[in-house]
Amino acid sequence: MCGIVGYVGSRKVSDLLLEGLFRLEYRGYDSAGIAVHDGGAISLRKRAGRVQELARLVDEQPVEGGVGIGHTRWATHGSVTDANSHPHVGGNGEVVLVHNGVIENHDTLRDHLQSRGYVFQTETDTEVVAHLVAHHLDERVKLGDDPGETETYVRAVEITLTELKGTYGVVALFRDLPETIVTARLGSPLVVGVGEEEYFVASDASPLVGYTDRVHYLSDHELVVLTPEKMDVRHRDNGRVRPSLQTLDQVADDTDLGEFEHYMLKEIFEQPKALENAIRGRLDEDAATARLGGLNMTPRQLRRIDRIVLTACGTSWHAGLVGEYVIEEFARIPVEVEYASELRYRNSPLSENTMTFAITQSGETADTLAAMRELQRKGHPALAICNVVGSTIAREADGGVYLRAGSEIGVASTKAFTSQVMILNLLALHLGRTRHLSFPSGERFMRRLRELPEKVEQALACHEQVKEVAARYHAFDNYLYLGRLYNFPVALEGALKLKEISYVHAEGYPAAEMKHGPIALVDERTPSVFVIPKGGIQPKVMSNLEEVKARGGPVIAIACEGDERVAEIADETIFVPYVEEHLQPIVTSIPLQLLAYHVALLRGCNVDRPRNLAKSVTVE
Ligand code: G6P
Repeated sequence: MCGIVGYVGSRKVSDLLLEGLFRLEYRGYDSAGIAVHDGGAISLRKRAGRVQELARLVDEQPVEGGVGIGHTRWATHGSVTDANSHPHVGGNGEVVLVHNGVIENHDTLRDHLQSRGYVFQTETDTEVVAHLVAHHLDERVKLGDDPGETETYVRAVEITLTELKGTYGVVALFRDLPETIVTARLGSPLVVGVGEEEYFVASDASPLVGYTDRVHYLSDHELVVLTPEKMDVRHRDNGRVRPSLQTLDQVADDTDLGEFEHYMLKEIFEQPKALENAIRGRLDEDAATARLGGLNMTPRQLRRIDRIVLTACGTSWHAGLVGEYVIEEFARIPVEVEYASELRYRNSPLSENTMTFAITQSGETADTLAAMRELQRKGHPALAICNVVGSTIAREADGGVYLRAGSEIGVASTKAFTSQVMILNLLALHLGRTRHLSFPSGERFMRRLRELPEKVEQALACHEQVKEVAARYHAFDNYLYLGRLYNFPVALEGALKLKEISYVHAEGYPAAEMKHGPIALVDERTPSVFVIPKGGIQPKVMSNLEEVKARGGPVIAIACEGDERVAEIADETIFVPYVEEHLQPIVTSIPLQLLAYHVALLRGCNVDRPRNLAKSVTVE
């Protein structure tokens, strides 16, 4: 969470920082701020609220200069106020910095600094870091270090970092070192962009797009000193290291809203294209299997796998549940799906031939990253199913598969979910074909995958109907989402979408399990959304639907086109095209995404920036 941007060069830095913060706003939008060095002094502008508020403030009170840092905050320590907004000032203004992450020992450090006379203006853990750098700077100078020398400042930052427990991505400006910024990382992502006599630093590459495509991703324990002429990379253990420059392949118009009012709606409608991208070049007609070269495993190694662990958070975890069903059905390999936040601290026994995957849209989720590292530490190759190219998880994984879904900006994940389910289907096919799945079955599987983007296009035709349903139901405050087998994760995901963006309470449940508790919630004010497409289990789900109707609960059904039986019983029926059961989550989740979207709009919620959430959760 939290977005960081910094710049050294000769552009008008306030414009550049604001533009960067707008692009990073998906990481947190409680407050925003910038600090700009004009060669003599550092000016600060910060304000609670969205980046737009900050832009207004900068408009009223402009700041000049070519060196600066900016931050958009997702509050962890300290409430959402102007004062708690970053950047934070250390000492008597000799250090100004922004931070992403959590300093776990901030209390002890604060006591220590207060006893030395440092006065705190905020409730944040970050202010501790700022004062600590100022303190060490002061100490260095007392010990005889030259206050005009960059090394004095670097040393002060290095000593500070050794005293911090927790995670940080930090960028600092110094009052008496006008042309320099120092940045360092442990656990929170940072990337440096290399321009012509200018450098950029940011939490991810989005603020760099359109300015440079040459980047260096910081590793943990790296510290980088940037001046307009030079980039100096040092590692805590290895001293000075050469930057490992990579080429960025993001394009600027990825973030354009186009004809859509919100990113979420745009991304829902991008799903046919995203799914096409997910399978492009990955279907091997001759061998009737999926081509997944990024797994970096030979057929012999794949054949030996006796267990799969999928780990993820949020929506990606729901995709993992679909993965469990499809891999077990087609590849006959036992699969477990673990919340990354649990897995990272558990000591679960893993056989030598366990294959592990981290599933993540952003590639930056702190818990998923930690779980992946824990698996790797135990000697298991950890693969990734990831969307963001160059993200930390993508870089650290031992292999994997990219979603190719394009930028997902709306906080509520939509196209990443369906793309993840698509990739997990490809994986099931690939693993299945090393085992029991015959050539003709592989061919049938591939045919269904190829047809899917078109089916999703057809499913999107329910948009107008969903809008009408939302108009009738948006005032209800409690919902149940029910489905079975492949559509149980869809029920969980549908409920999560509604909760996330409309702040309406919704519970996802296996349709039959609701008899063991949630059925007590059913009344005329609690709609149940049944995901009930055609398939072997449908008669059973039908009985569950009848049970809800018998108790006076309104029912919204997601059913297959032409399924009049469901339509007769349900109060509202939204039709989607029929696809095979293992692919149904991709189609049945479409109306649920649209339902959440329209309910949220009608309730006056900010669809793309829901309260308290962030797109990329980089704290644990
Ligand atoms: C946040 C987002 C969710 C996302 C989850 C996991 O909570 O709001 O949409 O599913 O993080 O993110 P990841 O990037 O790892 O898939």
